[in-house]
Amino acid sequence: MAKAATLPADMTFLDLEDACAPLEKPGARGKIAEAIQANDWGDRVLCVRVNAWDTEWTFRDVIEVVGGSGERLDEIMLPKVQSAAEVVALDLLLTQVEKEAGLRSGHIGIEAQIETTRGLINVEEICAASPRLETIIFGPADFAASMEMPVLTGGVQIAEYPGDHFHYVFSKILMAGRANGLQVIDGPFLKIRDQDAFRDYCQRTRTLGYDGKWALHPDQVAILNEVFSPTQEQFDRAWDILDAYKAATEEDLKGAVMFGDEMIDEASRKMATKFVSRGERAGLKRSER
Ligand code: GLV
Ligand code: MG
Repeated sequence: MAKAATLPADMTFLDLEDACAPLEKPGARGKIAEAIQANDWGDRVLCVRVNAWDTEWTFRDVIEVVGGSGERLDEIMLPKVQSAAEVVALDLLLTQVEKEAGLRSGHIGIEAQIETTRGLINVEEICAASPRLETIIFGPADFAASMEMPVLTGGVQIAEYPGDHFHYVFSKILMAGRANGLQVIDGPFLKIRDQDAFRDYCQRTRTLGYDGKWALHPDQVAILNEVFSPTQEQFDRAWDILDAYKAATEEDLKGAVMFGDEMIDEASRKMATKFVSRGERAGLKRSER
C-alpha cells in the first residue's frame, strides 16, 4: 500500500475483494483505513474495493473503511454489481456512515464493476442508479467466468476467436456509462509480465473511447499512461482545430470551415476538447511554432 502511493496512477484502489484472502478480510479493513491516513496519496482519486453484496462482508467493509479513513477516501468500488438496487443499497449505507463519521453527505463516490451476465443485462439501469456514481468498470476475468467462456486467463485476446470476443460487452458498457455522464474504465490484464501484449490489448478500449484501464503491477502504469494519453501531435492538432473553429464561428460567423483538407464543425470542437483536457492532465504543453 505504501508503494502504491508513490506510483504515477490517476487513481488507486485498495482491495478487500478478490485480491484479499477470506481469512484476512476482517483484519484488512483496519489496515486499509490506517494506510489511507498514513500515506501521502497526492492528487490521485483514492478508492477501496469492498466485497460484493452476495457475501457476508460488504456492510462491515463500508462501515469500518469509510468510518475509519477520514476525508481522504474519495470512493468505494462495488464489485459484481447485478442490479440498480445494489447501488442504491450502497448509497443508503454510505449516507448513514458519512453522517456518523462527520463526513459531508455525498462525500464518497461509487465505482461499479460490471462483471456478470446479469450486471451486463442491467447495465443501463445500474449506470443511472445513484448521483454518487462516478465510474463504471468492466471486469473481464469475472465476466469470462460468468459467461462460462472456455478460458483460463482473464482479459486477454483469445487466439481461436476471429475478432474481439468482448467487443459487444465493451461497447454496451461504454454507451451506458457515457449516456449517464460516467467515466468508463477497462479492467485488468492478467499476464503481467507480457508488456507487449498488454500494450496491444490496451489499444482496443482506448480506441473505442474508454477513459483508462487497470494496472495490476507497477510496470503496467507507464504503458497505460502512454496509451491513454494523446500524443504531442494529437494534442497540438486538437488545439489547432479549436483555434480554427473559434476564428470561423466568432470572426467569420461560419459554423463549418475547412481545416487543411477536411471540414470541421461543432462536432470537431467537441472531439478536440477531449484531447486537450486529457493532454493537459497528462502534462502536455502546446508546441511552440
Ligand atoms: C476484475 O475484477 C475482473 O474480474 O476482471
Ligand atoms: Mg472481478
